[in-house]
Parts: sequence; structure tokens; C-alpha cells
Amino acid sequence: MTYENEKHSVAAITEYERRTTAMTDSLTYIVQPGGALRGRIRVPGDKSISHRSIMLGSIAEGTTEITGFLEGEDNLATLNAFRAMGVQIEGPVDGSVSVHGVGLHGLHKPAEPLYLGNSGTSMRLLTGLLSGQAFDVEMTGDASLSKRPMRRVTVPLAQMGAEVETQDNGTPPLKVKGGAKLKGIDYTMPVASAQVKSCLLLAGLYAEGRTCVTEPAPTRDHTERMLTGFGYPVYRTGSTVCVEPGGTLRGMRIDVPADISSATFFMVGASIAPGSDVVLEHVGINPTRIGVINILRLMGADITLMNERDVGGEPVADIRVRAAQLKGIRIPEDQVPLAIDEFPAIFVAAACAEGETVLTGAEELRVKESDRIQVMADGLTTLGIDARPTPDGIVIRGGQLGSGEVHSHDDHRIAMSFTMAALRASGSITIHNCATVNTSFPGFVDLSRTAGINLETQSP
Ligand code: S3P
Repeated sequence: MTYENEKHSVAAITEYERRTTAMTDSLTYIVQPGGALRGRIRVPGDKSISHRSIMLGSIAEGTTEITGFLEGEDNLATLNAFRAMGVQIEGPVDGSVSVHGVGLHGLHKPAEPLYLGNSGTSMRLLTGLLSGQAFDVEMTGDASLSKRPMRRVTVPLAQMGAEVETQDNGTPPLKVKGGAKLKGIDYTMPVASAQVKSCLLLAGLYAEGRTCVTEPAPTRDHTERMLTGFGYPVYRTGSTVCVEPGGTLRGMRIDVPADISSATFFMVGASIAPGSDVVLEHVGINPTRIGVINILRLMGADITLMNERDVGGEPVADIRVRAAQLKGIRIPEDQVPLAIDEFPAIFVAAACAEGETVLTGAEELRVKESDRIQVMADGLTTLGIDARPTPDGIVIRGGQLGSGEVHSHDDHRIAMSFTMAALRASGSITIHNCATVNTSFPGFVDLSRTAGINLETQSP
């Protein structure tokens, strides 16, 4: 194993990433219509688990060996942040990373602000973790992250005694003041958010007394599962999860499953493209993440879970998807948090379904990497589909997708969703600003081509 990027200083890596992101900003995808998806596909590692493997590995005692790590820009932002705080991290090399944990109190003040790129998960979880440190830290992000709401974490953290400064409208950059004496709180989240829950649990490791978070609906539970895996006690009763200070995390081995959020594009593509038959290998099917499978099945998708197994505390399966005639549905609101990142792709499925699909209770989609309700409605409308945004959702009437130019608004999941739409379009689809696909899915273009999509890229 060689550790190429260890040769650079952290500042150099950060600057390098800033420059490469700027350079590739206007990457365009041109996707020819038609085709079918076939074969066995392994999409990259789970983004949420990859973030947490670095964070928890860094504050553990001993070494954490990770395989299947997602080498996307978001996860590299987290990795570089912990390197900047003095954690020795080897890799990633082909998805393998070794994190030499420094313990709960071993992080150091970084030499410069932590640049977290496009990654809301990095910033929100780190805000909790850093509230418990002895040093001040500033966190910044790209244009998209700089617009995202952070009061959802800073307000409850303030109740715990943390001092975090935002911009006047509650957005980044954030300044976290070190040395605060945190105390545990009992917090009921107004929105179902795994990022907020995780942020508070991480702060709770450093707080006096018990920190409890109650969620209005189940959200992804990787933080709880992984804390338990690292040997740190987590107490769950119903919809409330609690931690207490004084425990220790012990380094462990983590095999990151393939990301169901990335597999989603191929699940939708295979469902809508006649003649498709794909197997998505080794995909995480944690019950808090399978909303997309539930929703697509309600729409009539032909999805079979095969070879179900447990990998390091996370359920995993190979997922076979064959083309099927989809029908429009009213999406059950309880599925929304379980499929929160999958809606841009689900909207493409709805555009190819017979009848109307109605989504409600999903206002959170308006504050993701883009306003995913508006941006998808605009793109689908350009392609000739009747897609009407509502304050908390969308109404889509299935029809014939046409040809056209759409904009991803620098949102990776929008770019990948419209790539799949071409499988059922009557003409080519041009998608602008696709560089951010690398935040979560490096290798998307090659994998799509291998699976049967006729995709060209264009950069200036
Ligand atoms: C994430 C939680 C989700 C999701 C994001 C990753 C996480 O956000 O959209 O991509 O890793 O905790 P919310 O829980 O805030 O909706």
C-alpha cells in the first residue's frame, strides 16, 4: 500500500481540491436516448458510513481499518479535516483506509479553517463533535454548502452550552468556540434529520449528563450502529436515542457496503428501460435507508433481494432489478425520511409511470444540495413532462420524455437522475454542471457506459 497524498501538506490538498473543483465546474453530460441496463454492477461505498468511519475512527483508541471507503469529494473533505486536526490517516488506496485514532480528547487545532466542499454531512456532524473540543475551529464550504441552513444544529447545540457562530441568516462559514462546558439535553427534533441527530449525539460524548434525541420519524441510524460497533454504549427507547459521557471508542474493522443511494440510479434506470436486467452487488439495505425499494415496489417495480447477509452490523444484499411497467402512486409520507436522497431519481421513475405520482411531506428536499423539488420540476418540464411543484412536494404525470437541455444546479443527484431519464427519452438529453457527481459517485460515467448508457462528457 502506498499513501500518495500523505506526501502533500494538508493545506496543499485543500487548495488542490478547491482548484480542481473550480476547473471542472462546467462538465456537461450528453446522453443519447434508449438502451437497456444489463449485467452485474457494484456502485461505490456508502457515503454516510464512510463519513462516520473516519470521524469515529479518529476519536477512537487504536487503529480502524476501513475497506470499501467511498473516495468521493465529500468523504475526502471529512478525511482531510481530521488529518488537519492531527490524525494520522493512511490511504485511501482502492477503498482501503487506516485511521490511527487519537482518542476522544486527542484532536488538535487545525492550522487553517476546515474546507468541507459540498458536504453538509461533514459540516453538521463536525459542528457537534467540535463543540466538545478545547480549541476554536472555523468551517467553510463551496457555494452550495454556504447556502445551507445550519441553525437546525446550532440552536440545540447552544442549549447544550456550545458557542457556534453562523452568518446572519444561519448559514456557513461556522465558527465553533472551543472549551465550552457542554451539558446533556433532551431534544425533540422538529424535522426528521439524521444529520441533526448525529451532530447532537457526537456533542453528547463530551457533555455532562445524558444527551437524548427524539426523532419525529425514523432516520438513518448509522451513527448509533457504529458507535455501538466501536464499543460505545447507546441507549434506544422507542424513537429516543441517548448517549452518556465517559465511554471509550475502540478501533475496529469496517467493511463499507455499496451505497443504496448510488444504486438507486441503476434501480430506476433498469425499471424504466425495457429489456433491462441488472444485479447491484453488496448494497446496504439498512431498514432506515430502503424507502426507495418500498416506493419503487409500490409503483410496480420488479426488485428482488438476493443473498441477504450481515456485514459488520449492517444488512447487505444483491439487488436484482428487471424492467417493469410502473404506475403512479401517492407516496406514503412515512417513506420520505427513508428515501430522502432518492427523490430526484424517483421523480424520473414517476415521469415514466402510467398516471400521476403525488409526493407530500417532503419540504426538506428544498434545502438539499439544490432545491430538488424546483430543479427536478424545471428539468422534467423542459423534457415535456407535466411536473407541478407544491410547497412540500410535487405532482408528476407520467408521459413521454423528450429531448432537451437541463441544469443540475451543481447537484450530483440531479445530474445522475437525468442521465437515467435518457433511457426512456425520444431524443438526447444534455445535462449541465455535472462535476459534483464526484462528490458521491466517482466512476459514474464509466459504470453507466458499462451498464448500457450512451453517455459522452464535454468539458471546456
Ligand atoms: C445524511 C443524512 C441525510 C441525507 C444526507 C446524509 C447522513 O440528511 O440527506 O445525504 O449521513 O446523516 P438529513 O438527515 O439531514 O435529511
